[in-house]
Amino acid sequence: MSTTTLSPPRDRKAEHIRLALDESLQGPGASAFDDWYFEHNALPEIDFAEIDTSVEFLGKKLSAPLLISAMTGGTGLARAINENLARGAEARRVALALGSQRKALEDVDQVASFAVRELAPSVPLLGNLGAVQLNYGFGLDECRAAIEMIGADALVLHLNVLQEALQPEGNTNFKQLLPAIARLVPQLPVPLVVKEVGAGLSADVARRLAGVGVRHLDTAGRGGTNWVRIEAQRSGDVPLGELFADWGIPTPDSIRAVAAVPGVFVIGSGGLRSGLDVAKALALGADLAGLAFPFLTPATESADAVATRIDRFVRELKIAMLAVGARTIAELQRTPVHKRSSR
Ligand code: FNR
Repeated sequence: MSTTTLSPPRDRKAEHIRLALDESLQGPGASAFDDWYFEHNALPEIDFAEIDTSVEFLGKKLSAPLLISAMTGGTGLARAINENLARGAEARRVALALGSQRKALEDVDQVASFAVRELAPSVPLLGNLGAVQLNYGFGLDECRAAIEMIGADALVLHLNVLQEALQPEGNTNFKQLLPAIARLVPQLPVPLVVKEVGAGLSADVARRLAGVGVRHLDTAGRGGTNWVRIEAQRSGDVPLGELFADWGIPTPDSIRAVAAVPGVFVIGSGGLRSGLDVAKALALGADLAGLAFPFLTPATESADAVATRIDRFVRELKIAMLAVGARTIAELQRTPVHKRSSR
């Protein structure tokens, strides 16, 4: 697999990447997935070699129920990251979401950093824009352009209330977004996915989105990459960041809430850090597991490093499947997972 080398960071997106790589800006606290456990099955009656982790997503077959969650685009650094992610995702047949394409819609020079379709021709590729941009001049044309730019299989709109509120330059008018999303759904050539960025989707928000026809929801719950801390670090107001640092819906709770809404395809994400977390997310109700931060360091290294990280997650997932006696992802999704009463 060939690999793309990195140039030094230059701008806001580069600053996001640099800060996101800082482990101290994750969390806070222990993973909410540690509160959940499977009952061990000492007599699983399946052969490890026959465990099948494949699933279908957006009409394409994946080798495992994994999505590399949206991260970046727009800088030289981002281009190298996206190319390594694309090559790694294609080599292992997992889905890939790119970061916000807003800058590329405003400045054609930035498009190149997103142009990875030819490196990942057979896997689902997801475009990305901030939903709040629908209140700042973006509409159907910009959404269509974002889809065309990368030959996207779906467009992701992210909801990032806290992140915008903590950015000095943030866009904070979140009025009337639901009707704006509702108008988009029937007009887009590909499915719309709505996600958070680390504070989670509640049952009520999931119901409202499903009510206007959004069929794919991504929890991006609390417990992983912490945008409150990252933006507070950028703006220099660390106390404001710490005040809101543990705001949000823990990912396991968000997955269960969203999965309870009928007819919704659930992407469970936010703080998943192992194949065991992936297994728990699926048993809690997710159809696919999304991870961003765990792929960031490998993506700054090489496509092989991305593929190796995917292999590790799949191995951990398969060990969990063997030890609960689930041969397929559908069987894993039917496996009970229990909450510890105390730790
Ligand atoms: C992100 N995330 C993100 N989400 C989004 O919808 N659009 C974006 O442009 C970005 N940008 C971005 C940059 C970097 C460096 C990271 C680490 C993350 C959020 C991401 O997709 C995901 O929802 C959260 O990070 C939660 O997952 P993890 O990181 O805890 O696995």
